[in-house]
Amino acid sequence: MTFYVYVEPDAERRSTAGAVYSEYGFAIVDSLADLEYHLPRNPETLLVMIGATVDLEEALTFAAYQRVQRPLLGVIVLRRTLEPDVLARAMRSGVREVVDELDAEGIRVASARSIDLSKALSTTLRSSPDVQRAKVVTVFAGKGGCGKSVVATNLAAALCADGSRRVLLVDLALQFGDVAIMLQLPPNRSISDAISMAGKMDEAGLRSVITPCRPGLDALLAPSSPAEGEHVSRELVTEILEVARDMYDYIVLDTPPAVTDQVLSALDLTDWFVPIVTPDLPTLKSVRLTIEMFDLLEYPRDRRLVVFNRANTEVGLSLEDVEEAVGAHLSVHVPSSRDVTVSVNRGVPLVLSDPTHPVSLAIRKLADRCAGVSSNVESRRRLFALGRKR
Ligand SMILES: Nc1ncnc2c1ncn2[C@@H]1O[C@H](COP(=O)(O)OP(=O)(O)O)[C@@H](O)[C@H]1O
Ligand SMILES: [Mg+2]
Repeated sequence: MTFYVYVEPDAERRSTAGAVYSEYGFAIVDSLADLEYHLPRNPETLLVMIGATVDLEEALTFAAYQRVQRPLLGVIVLRRTLEPDVLARAMRSGVREVVDELDAEGIRVASARSIDLSKALSTTLRSSPDVQRAKVVTVFAGKGGCGKSVVATNLAAALCADGSRRVLLVDLALQFGDVAIMLQLPPNRSISDAISMAGKMDEAGLRSVITPCRPGLDALLAPSSPAEGEHVSRELVTEILEVARDMYDYIVLDTPPAVTDQVLSALDLTDWFVPIVTPDLPTLKSVRLTIEMFDLLEYPRDRRLVVFNRANTEVGLSLEDVEEAVGAHLSVHVPSSRDVTVSVNRGVPLVLSDPTHPVSLAIRKLADRCAGVSSNVESRRRLFALGRKR
């Protein structure tokens, strides 16, 4: 377990200064890219010391990103000379201190200060009752092929709003999950790696099984072999979601075409229920049955956002027919478009590759609905900021 890490591309500095750092328990890596690999595997890291030969712009981008992703992590930047404008820009990016690389005492004091701050922040963040827990959004339908995975992946990408929110996408289609393919993620890590952690799941454990996708977006993938999915218990799903709720702003769940045990445990923790309907009678019937089940289970009606997928398909059913058959108001209409299939095959959600596409606009409307509900001041502020950007 390492708590501190020193990044320095220059081999000579790595061997001289690096030797001193390793004595103090620092891990040493030689680029920011290696650091991106190191951090998810060492989630307990409290301090990153960025060496003097790392490009300043890249260092500042890294710091700005970590300020949102890992608010506990302190970033200190070492430089050969200290220029006042560098200092000001560094502070704006969330760098805690900029220190002359030859000022050993200055580095020691700055490190101690940053580590103390991280520890104090970690205590306040954990004990503060005001900390917002993630909203859980569950996408489902009684049938396959309605667009659950398309909606879940695009919704997750839309919710993370270029990294300004932290989102975890969980693939609960444990037998035949499509999230890895739809986001082009390597299937090395999955929820089945969490089976051995049942009963003792914590933040570090969860970080070790998730797959980072892009800034702000992580995925917990389905097992690559269908048989493994059977060993993921209902309790484990609850445990994972409870831990994840303290780490993210949103958790989006993709589900299999059936209400499995694991889905039921997720539904119990769900804030937004997102049923998907398509304009064909079998789907309409299965969604109606699911919605009736929700009434029985007393899941609140005002927390349902029904998505009408392929809404423009001409099949002789009017909007009223569909609403009546489902027994619920349709909140968002997603048009049918072959660009969706192209984006699925390319492994890039349409909301990212073509943000103004009618399908993307519909999904963003859904994301706004999910984001806009909370009476919490912070999320209202965020919504306001997002609204102004457009
Ligand atoms: N709005 C849409 N327009 C065109 N094709 C769509 C749309 N939504 C889904 N599809 C197609 O349907 C296929 C099945 O969607 P998917 O999300 O995998 O369904 P599910 O997860 O419900 O089984 C996708 O591969 C995609 O090609
Ligand atoms: Mg699917």
